[in-house]
Amino acid sequence: MSGEAESGKAQLAFDGRTVDLPVLTDHIGQRAVDIRNLRKDAGLTAFDPGFANTVSCRSGVSYVDGEAGRLVYRGYAIEDLADNCTFIEVAYLLLHDRLPTRPQLEQFSVLMNRHSMIHEDMITFFAKYPEHAHPMAVLSAMVVSLSSFYPELEESESEELDITATRLLSKLRTIAAFSYKKSIGEPFVYPSYKLSYCANFLNMMFSSPVRDYPMDPMLVRAMNQLLILHADHDQNCSTSTVRLVGSARVNLYACIAAGICALWGPLHGGANQEVIEMLELIHKQGGNVDGVIEKAKDRKDPFRLSGFGHRIYKTYDPRAKIAKRICQEVLGKLGVSDPLLDIAMRLEEKALADPFFVERKLYPNVDFYTGITYRAIGFPTDMYTVLFALGRLPGWISQWQEMVRDPEQKIWRPRQLYTGQNNLPFVPIDKR
Ligand code: CMC
Repeated sequence: MSGEAESGKAQLAFDGRTVDLPVLTDHIGQRAVDIRNLRKDAGLTAFDPGFANTVSCRSGVSYVDGEAGRLVYRGYAIEDLADNCTFIEVAYLLLHDRLPTRPQLEQFSVLMNRHSMIHEDMITFFAKYPEHAHPMAVLSAMVVSLSSFYPELEESESEELDITATRLLSKLRTIAAFSYKKSIGEPFVYPSYKLSYCANFLNMMFSSPVRDYPMDPMLVRAMNQLLILHADHDQNCSTSTVRLVGSARVNLYACIAAGICALWGPLHGGANQEVIEMLELIHKQGGNVDGVIEKAKDRKDPFRLSGFGHRIYKTYDPRAKIAKRICQEVLGKLGVSDPLLDIAMRLEEKALADPFFVERKLYPNVDFYTGITYRAIGFPTDMYTVLFALGRLPGWISQWQEMVRDPEQKIWRPRQLYTGQNNLPFVPIDKR
C-alpha cells in the first residue's frame, strides 16, 4: 500500500486570518493535518513535546492499533507470525515486504551463516572493556565499529543492502554472545554453520570448549517467538532515533548503534531489566506487592511500575499476552518454579483492579513477562535489553531502508520555543 488520499481541509482561524490545512487519510482511516506549510501560510509552528501527536513519516513496515491492542508486521498479525514463523522468516518479511518461499528462506539462512563471524581484529576490542561493562555499551560500540571494517552502502536499491542487512543481523548475535562471554571470563564460542539463528545464539551463549550445550528445541522455539515479538513497533523511540540519525545520511551501522543506545533507556527497552530488578526487590522484601503499587501511584514519587503503560496501547499489549503465555509454557516445561512469576501475576492483578491504572489505561507491556523467561533460559539480567535489540534489528533496518528510499525524505530538524536570554551585552573575560 502506498500514499494516502487528501480528504478535505481543516481550517485554522488565527490573527484575523483563516488558513486551510490539507487533511490526509491513510488506507485504514487514520487522519492527519498536513502542517508543512503552516509556518509559510500562517507564521505558526506546532508545539508537541514528546511527539505524542506527531506523524513523522509514512511507513508500511508495521502498524499498532493501540485501542484494539493489535500489532501487524507488513499486514500479518503478530499472533500468527509468533506461532508459525522463525525469527529469520519474520526478518525476511520485514526487509522484503513479503514472506519468503522455502528457497528464499534457505538462501537467507546461507547468507546469515556466511556473515556470522566478526573480523578477527575486532575480537581484541572486547578485552579492554571492564568486566562489569554493560553489554548494551559494548554492543553499540561494536556495531559502530563495524563501519570501519565493512564497506558502506553505496546505494539503497542494491544487493549490497541485502548483504549489509544480513551482515548486521548475523553479527549482532555474535557480538551479543561474545560480550556475555567476556563478562564471565569464558572463551568465545564461534558461530556454527550447522545451527539455525536462535540455536546458534544459545550455543554461543551457553556452551564452552569443555561443555556442550544440550539444545532444547522448546527453548529454540521460545527464543524465536520472543525475538519475533520485538521485531518492529512503528515509530517508537529507538526506531525514530535510527530514522533521525539516518536522515543526516550517516552510514547504517552508525544509525543502528544510535538505535541501540536509545533502546537502552529504562522507559524503552531497558524496562525488561528494570522489571526483573523490581520483582527481585519485592521478593527480597517479603513479596508484598501493595507497597509497590502505592509507590507507583504516588504523584510525588518518580517511581513507575516497570513493564506497565504504553504511549500507544490503551489496552493490553498483544505482545505482553503472548510473552506471558510463552513464560508460563517455558517455566512449566522446564519444571521451574520462579517466585518472580507469582509476584508478577499478583502485581498485574492488583494493578488492573486499581482505579489509578484503570483510569489511565495502564496495562502490562511487552517487557513485563519476558525477563522471567530469559531468566529461566539462563540469561543474566543485563543481557535482556540486548535480546530486545537483537529482536528489533530487522525493524530498524527495514525502517531505515524505507526512509532512504523515500523521495520526500529530508533531514530531521525540529524547531523549538526559545526560553533562553537574548541581546545580552558581551562581557570581556577580565570583567566577568
Ligand atoms: N507506573 C505508574 N504510572 C504510570 C506508568 C507506570 N508504569 N506509566 C504511565 N503512568 C502514569 C503517568 O504518571 C501519567 O499519570 P498522570 O496523568 O497522573 O500524570 C499517566 O500514566 C500517563 O503517562 P505518560 O507519562 O503521559 O505516558 P507516556 O505515553 O508519556 O509514557 C511510558 C509511556 C511507557 C514511558 C510509561 O508508561 C512508562 O514510564 N512505563 C514504565 C516503563 C516501561 O515499562 N517502558 C516500556 C515500554 S513498552 C516497550 C518499548 O516500547 O520499549
